[in-house]
Amino acid sequence: MAKTLNVGLIGYGFMGRTHSNAYRKVSHFFDVPYRPVLKVVCGLVEAEARAFAERWGYESWCTDWRKVIDRKDIDVVDICVPNNVHAEIAVAAAKAGKMIVCEKPLALDSAQAAKMVEAVEKAKVPNIVSFNYRRVPAVTLAKRLIEEGRLGRIFHYRANFLQDWTISADVPQGGMATWRLDVKAAGSGVTGDLLAHCIDTATWHNGPITRVNAMTETFIKERKHAETGKVEPVGIDDACTFFCRFQNGSLGNFESTRYARGHKALYTFEINGEKASIRWDLHDLHRLQWFDHRDEGKLRGWRSIHVTDHGGGHPYMDKWWVPGLQIGYAETFVHQIADFLAAAAKGEPCPPTFRDALATQKVCDAVLKSAKSGKWVEVK
Ligand SMILES: NC(=O)c1ccc[n+]([C@@H]2O[C@H](COP(=O)([O-])OP(=O)(O)OC[C@H]3O[C@@H](n4cnc5c(N)ncnc54)[C@H](O)[C@@H]3O)[C@@H](O)[C@H]2O)c1
Repeated sequence: MAKTLNVGLIGYGFMGRTHSNAYRKVSHFFDVPYRPVLKVVCGLVEAEARAFAERWGYESWCTDWRKVIDRKDIDVVDICVPNNVHAEIAVAAAKAGKMIVCEKPLALDSAQAAKMVEAVEKAKVPNIVSFNYRRVPAVTLAKRLIEEGRLGRIFHYRANFLQDWTISADVPQGGMATWRLDVKAAGSGVTGDLLAHCIDTATWHNGPITRVNAMTETFIKERKHAETGKVEPVGIDDACTFFCRFQNGSLGNFESTRYARGHKALYTFEINGEKASIRWDLHDLHRLQWFDHRDEGKLRGWRSIHVTDHGGGHPYMDKWWVPGLQIGYAETFVHQIADFLAAAAKGEPCPPTFRDALATQKVCDAVLKSAKSGKWVEVK
């Protein structure tokens, strides 16, 4: 019988729901060493926290995250709040010896992220940052194919993350619903919000990024603040495009925007190697596109692999349904929690760790610095 693990969730918004769903499901599908118990949920508005607790089955609720940390019966603190609140909670949780699950981006910038890494490493607490796309089975399969050397030398890595929800000048900045447009709450715009995902996946697949050259744009320069009603300058990047070099000599090309009319959340990547290429698209997330130059000429072409066949060794799929039946976005968080619990039982951090997320944050910082100066920037 698995031991219980008491969860304190901070933030009951979008990510609060995905994480709660994962804690609820994980021990039904995975042989995990712990059975999560939803002990307390914390958020800004008491009535909302209470309603969330009742809907998801949390035993209690509160509005002060310090109360979650102070509770002796909480084993894991799960941070699902806006980016500017991550650091304070994570450092306090580490000092209290709690295991930590933290949403991405780890922090507002790499200086803040470095302090968080120091805190979790000093306290030796298991930790993970929620770059969940690594755990889409097709994306994990891509990693395995690269590790097996099937692509040969890699020449190109390109990724896009496209949305269109901030095109109207009437969208405010700040406040509960639009904190992502307020630089004080978000740290940056699409760079930290969307490109951080692409950078995490890319460096996992293809190794470290060593230098970047970037361009950003803020299309709407002023927006009303949702809380004060005052029109204020916009400090985030609405769009960012950068190219880079990876340590292995390959070239990278990344683009993200919230101004790509028609796209809600289109994350795609393509990797071109000497022997083969891979392509993936979030809108078709259970498929991996594969081109192998070694195929016989008359049959050579792009294959669309339906990544649902555990007999064929497709990652995570043996835990779900029968081959041919797909899973989706929500399950990436179940995989994340399953892997985290397995690592936590050994007292280990689970990739992507706080340290891994610091490396991503350093690339984001370099991208923003390059966009300002118009020059190449080395990633330290
Ligand atoms: N992994 C992913 O794909 C992904 C997707 C979306 C968001 N995120 C990240 O998750 C985090 C949360 O984003 P979201 O979309 O869930 O936000 P959200 O706006 O939906 O929810 C934020 C929650 O934080 C709570 N909160 C805010 N300040 C607080 C404070 N000081 N103390 C306690 N609670 C506080 C609010 O009450 C709310 O419940 C962000 O860091 C974001 O970048 C990650």
